[in-house]
Amino acid sequence: MVSIKTEEQIKNMEYAGKVCYDLLEHMESVVKQGITTKEIDDIAYTFITERGCTPSFLGYEGYPATICTSINDEVVHGIPSPKRKLKDGDIISLDVGASYKGYHADTARTYKVGSVSKEALDLMKYTKEALYEGLSVIKEGIKLNDVCAKIESVALAHNYGVIRELTGHGIGTVVHEDPYIPNYSNNESDLILKEGMTLAIEPMFSLKGRKVWMLEDGWTITTQDGSIAAHYEHTIAVTKDGYKILTGK
Ligand code: MF3
Ligand code: CO
Ligand code: CO
Repeated sequence: MVSIKTEEQIKNMEYAGKVCYDLLEHMESVVKQGITTKEIDDIAYTFITERGCTPSFLGYEGYPATICTSINDEVVHGIPSPKRKLKDGDIISLDVGASYKGYHADTARTYKVGSVSKEALDLMKYTKEALYEGLSVIKEGIKLNDVCAKIESVALAHNYGVIRELTGHGIGTVVHEDPYIPNYSNNESDLILKEGMTLAIEPMFSLKGRKVWMLEDGWTITTQDGSIAAHYEHTIAVTKDGYKILTGK
């Protein structure tokens, strides 16, 4: 079932979302060659809890950390580790979630470490563009698949792989609520959007093949062909004539 949130509930999500946004902004200067993903995770834990929020992912289905840190061919759900140091030329996706008064926000972006290839910069640029293109069609009364198709169209224009096993989702009192929101056009996304729905929109694109698998840690999803991947995500609320981003500008 797709739930409709009250203004009050959306305000709580917006506070959690603001904390997540501020954290991702802060990470722009933290993400550097030599730092470990565990150090990044510790910073995130302190940042979120000091602001009166609770990390959404820690303990979620047994997930062992505050945020997800996914490097290069890792698409999502990379687990922070004291053994994993960032290197010049890496790209890293940070995915953060926090709740306030029981209401969650979820947001992600991909960062470059030092100087990265033109291919990587383009992949980041267009995956982010796909997020905003997907958002651009959102308002009460549209069909969910319009968002899915719009996101996919950006990937198609650049020959990127659209990861199919992972999707956007509704969000509220839990991180993952109905509906699921694939990043490609499909027949199942026939839901008509209504004011007060809160959704996490999150394109995940790879440079080449779209096939992924899970590592033995039971969490990390990587591309099968080793090509790099990017991930951008916002939590939004549907309004009568558009949408409001709850995790940033
Ligand atoms: N943030 C992920 C998403 O965008 C979910 C992470 S759940 C975790 O849907 F347990 F892996 F952290
Ligand atoms: Co996320
Ligand atoms: Co999400």
